[in-house]
Amino acid sequence: MHDILPEEQKYYQKIYEVVSNIADFYGFGKIETPVLEETELFSKGIGLATDVVKEQMYNLKTKGGDFLTLRPEWTAPVVRAYIQYGMQSLSQPVKLWYFGPCYRYERQQAGRYRQFWQFGFEVLGEKGSVADAQIIQIFHNILEELKLKNLIIQINSIGDNNCRPYYKKLLVSYLRGRETSLCLDCKRRLRENVLRVLDCKEEKCQIIKREAPQILDHLCDECHSHFKEILEFLDETGLPYNLNPYLVRGLDYYTKTVFEIFFTKSVEKENFLNALAGGGRYDKLAKLLGGKETSACGGAAGVERIIKLMKNLEMKFPKEAEAQVFLTQLGVLAKKKSLRLLEDFRRAKIKTTEAFGRDSLKAQLNKANRLGVKYVLILGQKEALEGTIIIKNMGSGKQEIVKLDKVVGTMKKRLKKLKSEA
Ligand code: HAM
Repeated sequence: MHDILPEEQKYYQKIYEVVSNIADFYGFGKIETPVLEETELFSKGIGLATDVVKEQMYNLKTKGGDFLTLRPEWTAPVVRAYIQYGMQSLSQPVKLWYFGPCYRYERQQAGRYRQFWQFGFEVLGEKGSVADAQIIQIFHNILEELKLKNLIIQINSIGDNNCRPYYKKLLVSYLRGRETSLCLDCKRRLRENVLRVLDCKEEKCQIIKREAPQILDHLCDECHSHFKEILEFLDETGLPYNLNPYLVRGLDYYTKTVFEIFFTKSVEKENFLNALAGGGRYDKLAKLLGGKETSACGGAAGVERIIKLMKNLEMKFPKEAEAQVFLTQLGVLAKKKSLRLLEDFRRAKIKTTEAFGRDSLKAQLNKANRLGVKYVLILGQKEALEGTIIIKNMGSGKQEIVKLDKVVGTMKKRLKKLKSEA
């Protein structure tokens, strides 16, 4: 888990800004759910045989005997909220987006964190393939808006309850004959979660996978035409995609469409092998969690992975507005008055800075010089008593004395003039 220090904040803010604007445009409402949920929500929703549930959840038992889990992902909590607040009776689809931290006890490796931020979009109550295509388009648009080019969408369909059981049988019988050549993990997957054999990265499993039956050849008519329509949408919008028959994803709730988005170029010899975003359709999840049957699809992206890329690509940010006024003070009364005055400047939206912790005028002026401000205000003991203040123009060196209660108005005029001359 990592801290997010001040210099990192601009990346999170930039991503948040792009995501929230796009969410707004496409009519998504923001949702926040608690970081702690009942463990059962995830074990049921994500699936007992998945790596996330078996190995990666931060579970705890409360004093009251409840079993809770730090959210490893948002889809199950969003569906829980959809059911809990009766959103099934609203006009469908209900479109929700989110931005916040998730927790997974991952093995330490590049691109995998134990606390990481996700943003995501979920469309609930829509079975048409246009929703799947739009979700993919939204993620692609966001990444492009963040100036990430060279993206590729990997897409597959893993069928539904009609066609997947038959395909799984075919796959099991194919793999059984080759079990001795599989890696240790895949031997286990063969019994527990056979589809996951397809996305194994071990060398020895690649040859076996290559010859394996492919799900796309065994989709039922409905899944087949749903998938075909999505590809047609993607062709129409010109989004770059690859059909990847080995893409199955690590969460059990998916039906039909699954997708992931990758960055394809290596930057300074560093390859970005991890997906930036992933998602798909999950038509059975709402029913599984106790609601009505609800067709739905969505996706989520990893904020830290995106930030890593932005840093590697040396993304530039517009410089933050710099302070134009520096407020110096000398003596107890002046310091007291300065605090109030600073508030007046804040309300007037004039970026003003200070060094209230320093008592010597010289030290304060040094700081003002370093910051390169246009004006320094000097509130000494005499001025504080008289209710005046000195304005010093740092460019010309000229000084003038004005009434304290007029200084904000005067500075407003001076800065406006400066702006019009620039
Ligand atoms: P996921 O593929 O597990 O899907 O996570 C989505 C994204 O979160 C990944 O593509 C990756 O960028 C980021 N991510 C996942 N784990 C980590 C980690 N340990 N460290 C850093 N980044 C990570 C889901 O979570 C689904 N809920 C997505 C979804 C939404 N499907 C339908 N709706």
